[in-house]
Amino acid sequence: MVSQNVKQTINIASKFAKSIKTPCIILLEGDLGAGKTHFVKGFAKGYASKQLVTSPTFTIMNLYQGKKPIYHFDLYRLESEEEAEILGFEEYFNHDSLNGVTLVEWPEKAKSLVKDWDYKVQINKIDEDKREIVIQKRG
Ligand SMILES: Nc1ncnc2c1ncn2[C@@H]1O[C@H](COP(=O)(O)OP(=O)(O)OP(=O)(O)O)[C@@H](O)[C@H]1O
Ligand SMILES: [Mg+2]
Repeated sequence: MVSQNVKQTINIASKFAKSIKTPCIILLEGDLGAGKTHFVKGFAKGYASKQLVTSPTFTIMNLYQGKKPIYHFDLYRLESEEEAEILGFEEYFNHDSLNGVTLVEWPEKAKSLVKDWDYKVQINKIDEDKREIVIQKRG
């Protein structure tokens, strides 16, 4: 899909949220400023959350209440995969223990943690406002 502006990204993500089944693990890939956090904003909206979505860069995870809990990770500042283990993140990254939806920015930072994914969302910057959004379902 091609998004021409922030509003379209929000709409694409919101529609996508209505189509998923839980538990669900979604990886968000793309450069700094591609629009991953804005995609989560739209996702939360479509998933019936009225809470404000912000970047969890400093907290690593934000929790929003939608139809089910939404766990929004940003692993950019994660030092190592062991750190993720120590912080006890595994329960949000496997289907047996996850009750809700996990969305992950910068999954590249903890490859072994995010093996159990359902969707990969790749956001590519085409120009200032235009983005290519590719949603890949596993299998
Ligand atoms: N079509 C678009 N979709 C999404 N964001 C857009 C679009 N056009 C412009 N933008 C701008 O691009 C930026 C995207 O920021 P956002 O925080 O969502 O990126 P990010 O991928 O989460 O970055 P980071 O890796 O730093 O967390 C915002 O400033 C937003 O206004
Ligand atoms: Mg972000």
